[in-house]
Amino acid sequence: MKTVVTTPQLRAALAADRAAGKRVALVPTMGNLHDGHLQLVRRAQKLADVVVVSIFVNPLQFGANEDLDSYPRTLAADREKLFAEGVQYLFHPTVDEIYPAGMAAHTTVNVPELSDTLCGASRPGHFTGVATVVTKLLNIVQPEVAVFGEKDFQQLAVIRRMVADLCIPVTIVGVGTARAEDGLALSSRNGYLSEEQRRIAPRLHAILQECREAIACGFDNYDELEEHARAALTEAGFRPDYVSIRDARTLREVTPETEQIVVLGAAWLGQPRLIDNVTLNLNPSQDWGMLVAG
Ligand code: PAF
Repeated sequence: MKTVVTTPQLRAALAADRAAGKRVALVPTMGNLHDGHLQLVRRAQKLADVVVVSIFVNPLQFGANEDLDSYPRTLAADREKLFAEGVQYLFHPTVDEIYPAGMAAHTTVNVPELSDTLCGASRPGHFTGVATVVTKLLNIVQPEVAVFGEKDFQQLAVIRRMVADLCIPVTIVGVGTARAEDGLALSSRNGYLSEEQRRIAPRLHAILQECREAIACGFDNYDELEEHARAALTEAGFRPDYVSIRDARTLREVTPETEQIVVLGAAWLGQPRLIDNVTLNLNPSQDWGMLVAG
């Protein structure tokens, strides 16, 4: 595995692979790799001959009071994991490489509507930071395919819209959420949880699943379900940000045309803010996997 830190180095290396007719996949990450990331890598390996994993803790997507400085940076351990998976390239640029004139002066990419709701409402500017860095990474690597986790459901929706709107020639693939045995979605931020918080944390997934089950049984008062879920989160020890039942494709309200519902939740457990989601297919005869993979 080659570790590459600049755009020209990476482009030169990939040019040789392309000349040999190889397909390239990109897995963008912020490092502190866990099994969820490795599942993205394994999917990428099935879809391409050469896999580039980027590790870049992107300051543009962190708010002023967020955890940029304390975000876990574990490069040596990450490198070992990627080497063991047989990844060809680790792209680990510096902040100056990505934002040479500083962040304030840099062109940004904003995906309206999708970026302003849910997590975007409590993290203003977050999705502009994500869309900007993902655009840069896609332009630097020019992969045939890029792989992202469905745990960050809204992020995936923003990236799909951005790629479609800007005609970026890449296939975006979403991979289902990797979970601990008790249901907690794997996340780099789980490392912030105390023992007691770690015991409570799987309740987020359980409460979202309870919502999904109620909807599957025909309960369609979504306001009431959301309210009930928020109360259950509070009772479990969380400070809920939101629980919201949406159309999985548009992230707007559920309508009679909705084919798949997503129940999204975000809540603080002490300092850490956890997010999760569950989906419900309303039209089982439809192969939804085909629809969302493209
Ligand atoms: O999901 C993440 O780790 C980040 O938001 C991403 C997509 C790598 C962009 O910095």
